[in-house]
Amino acid sequence: MFSSQGREEAVAEYYRLQAKDYHNKYYNGDYQSDTAGKPEIELLRNTFRGLDVLEIACGTGFWTEIAATSANSVVATDVNSLMIKEAGQRLSHLKNVSFKVADAYYISRLKGRFNGLFTVLFWCHIPRQRIREVIMSFNKLLEPGSPVVVIDQMHDSDLRKHKSDIHGNKLAQRRVSNRNFTVIKNIPDEAQMLDDLKNISSDVKYSINNSSGYWSVSWRTV
Ligand SMILES: C[S@@+](CC[C@H](N)C(=O)[O-])C[C@H]1O[C@@H](n2cnc3c(N)ncnc32)[C@H](O)[C@@H]1O
Repeated sequence: MFSSQGREEAVAEYYRLQAKDYHNKYYNGDYQSDTAGKPEIELLRNTFRGLDVLEIACGTGFWTEIAATSANSVVATDVNSLMIKEAGQRLSHLKNVSFKVADAYYISRLKGRFNGLFTVLFWCHIPRQRIREVIMSFNKLLEPGSPVVVIDQMHDSDLRKHKSDIHGNKLAQRRVSNRNFTVIKNIPDEAQMLDDLKNISSDVKYSINNSSGYWSVSWRTV
């Protein structure tokens, strides 16, 4: 059996192996079709207008680019230097975006002070037993009253096959580059998120968007 630490590393490695192909696999490269029917685009733009924003697990920077259209600045981070390289090349024209290799579980080591934070398609991979610790470490990097937005998927192709571990994490089996991975794939509902954010946040809003297939939650730091 893997330790919780092993699960986090498995997720990082699973994406490292996909870094080169990730963007073409998940995005069309055509702005209109990539953004169509996604209310999350406006959520990011409206929430972070004029702010200095930290992004966690930016991947190849699809959402970085969206946030950068209204934010004052975006520091986009990812644990995988290959992802950062891809994102940096794609978005080199954006003067208000910078990139840093940083592990979300050690984000407090990052220098800088921000007044906004978001992460897309990463929350599902955080072990349930570390959620509060992660939220608190994000909040610590932010000025009080800063908005935080988390966006993730409502569905998974093989949801019914997922097993559970003793912490209540859902475990999905994945194969990439001829290697098998067991990857945490949690989809928290509103009650779960409210509980996770209890006493460490204000103004919590959870929503499910059937058109895009994403759920999102936003809060303000206290
Ligand atoms: C599903 S991808 C999402 C990428 C991007 N946010 C998007 O929506 O296109 C998950 C990302 O999480 C990153 N990641 C995995 N473990 C991480 C960690 N411990 N800290 C920071 N990023 C991590 C991966 O490298 C990958 O880029």
